[in-house]
Amino acid sequence: MPQPTPGSLFPAHLAEVASRTAAALERSGFDALVLHAGEPLELFRDDQHYPFKAHPPFKWWAPLLDAPGSMVLCRPGRRPQLIFHVATDFWYLPNRLPEEGWTREFEIIEVHSRAEARAALPPELGRTAWIGDPLPELLGWGLASINPPDLLRRLDFARGRKTAYEIACLAEANRIGARGHRAAEACFRAGGSEYEIHQAFAAACGQREQELPYNCIVALNEGGSVLHYQILRRERPTQHHSLLLDAGASHAGYGSDITRTSAFEDAEFTALIGAMDRLQLGLCDLAKPGTDWRDIHLAAVQRIASLLCESGVIRCSTEEAIDSGVARLFFPHGIGHMLGLQVHDVGGLFADAEGATLPKPPFDPALRLTRRLEPGFVVTMEPGFYFIDALLEPQRHGTHAARINWARIAQLRKFGGIRIEDNLAITADGHDNLTRRAFADG
Ligand code: GLY
Ligand code: MN
Ligand code: MN
Repeated sequence: MPQPTPGSLFPAHLAEVASRTAAALERSGFDALVLHAGEPLELFRDDQHYPFKAHPPFKWWAPLLDAPGSMVLCRPGRRPQLIFHVATDFWYLPNRLPEEGWTREFEIIEVHSRAEARAALPPELGRTAWIGDPLPELLGWGLASINPPDLLRRLDFARGRKTAYEIACLAEANRIGARGHRAAEACFRAGGSEYEIHQAFAAACGQREQELPYNCIVALNEGGSVLHYQILRRERPTQHHSLLLDAGASHAGYGSDITRTSAFEDAEFTALIGAMDRLQLGLCDLAKPGTDWRDIHLAAVQRIASLLCESGVIRCSTEEAIDSGVARLFFPHGIGHMLGLQVHDVGGLFADAEGATLPKPPFDPALRLTRRLEPGFVVTMEPGFYFIDALLEPQRHGTHAARINWARIAQLRKFGGIRIEDNLAITADGHDNLTRRAFADG
């Protein structure tokens, strides 16, 4: 069945966002809201700027990714205004509004300075909140509040359930990301360096580095043991053992978050990757409305511990591996998180819009999602295990020394680790695996 294009779904998305924002404003006691795209951030004592990233609450309303100084004025029941900032500057190309259908949903006012932006807003802002940078001028604008925590929390909560438009954007980000992963895998097979694999990924996605949703994790060999490995080694290793690639692409401000692990001609590690792939799909089967994410995390700990015991990395029962804590030395992160306008999207710990939170399991401080799944949530499912020196070395003579098969570790540590990560959109009765679908369709 052909999928609807994100663009055709935008008007309904905006109507839903407007309605959720109106409810949040009412509960927080405001009549209107100005959402600020953000301002360019200067390098210290320099005339250059860090790559601009629009503020997520602004992007939720307007998919305008590179328009610093712009604002959206939201007034319940009225057409939203996009105050579009165009710099008058001959050093850079002045910004132009894209000719895209979504712009028709806004009343657009072009401004060239902050004073003009203020003049474009209603004169009386005594019941209007501002979300964005706390600009010095705001003190004279008569706003009711700047970044009120209660309203911010309600809007974060409101972003949990994605609209059909957002899911279509995330599906597209997965299609682009899958294309990148295929090219990266080919570069790995051809003996590329981490840097070359990175460039192959970005080129196949057609995205420059600052457009990607997060810094790619391109880890060859033992680099895969570092969870957020940040180096792009230029030199090719003498031998390629494995690639752990955690890399996503963007679409209209939404990002995919995809990990694949590949082995280079090693039957045993290939079999371990296959086992992790099956384990990951088994966990995906648990993802449906009503399931407590903490239960999925605990199932992941259980199944990963069992795999580590079966494959001879841990030498005790699965039960002891979990209860003693040794299994978590190999899987020290959460099983997944919310995904959307931010890679680690907001709202994962909320019990309700009022700000109560749901606790993490006692031994899993890194878990970023503790809610029951609801239709419209988009989450990652990312089990893995790693041979992390920083966690294992202190155990050589520690309490877990006898539970760890050190000879097996010595044999496997050159592979770094394994992670398989997909993005799941929770549906009315299960989930849609956006990542597997993207790889299958490609
Ligand atoms: N790419 C970061 C993560 O998987 O959470
Ligand atoms: Mn990831
Ligand atoms: Mn992730």
